[in-house]
Amino acid sequence: MSETIDWSALQDAAREATRHAYVPYSHYRVGAAALTEDGRVVVGCNVENAGYGVTLCAECGMVGQLAMTGGGKLRAFTCVNGDGQTIMPCGRCRQLLSEHAGENFEALGVSGVVTMAQLLPDAFGPADIA
Ligand code: THU
Repeated sequence: MSETIDWSALQDAAREATRHAYVPYSHYRVGAAALTEDGRVVVGCNVENAGYGVTLCAECGMVGQLAMTGGGKLRAFTCVNGDGQTIMPCGRCRQLLSEHAGENFEALGVSGVVTMAQLLPDAFGPADIA
């Protein structure tokens, strides 16, 4: 918990990811970036669909990259919009993050750095279906 997270680098990675967003409907770009516990950076962008509900949030792609590059747990996360401003992950993506968040997970949000429990209190998780 004590090591310093380079939030600025993580935000830059999220900002770069927004450039790849496929957003013909909302025109609202999102980039997500996370640092894994073993030091990788994984990123994702939102990918919309003509069936609006099928749209993939940026966090979906990011979690896909997490699995594709070796799995493991997330240590730090942030996401930004197309203007580079920090935004909060939507409710569904908080559940997505909860599944992959490590013990010391932190997210940089609009009110500063928060824990997973602050992002999604009393989360439903793997223990509930064990
Ligand atoms: N979006 C994300 O990519 N992540 C979030 O956590 C919030 C919303 C996207 C989905 C959609 O393409 C656009 O933002 C507008 O809702």
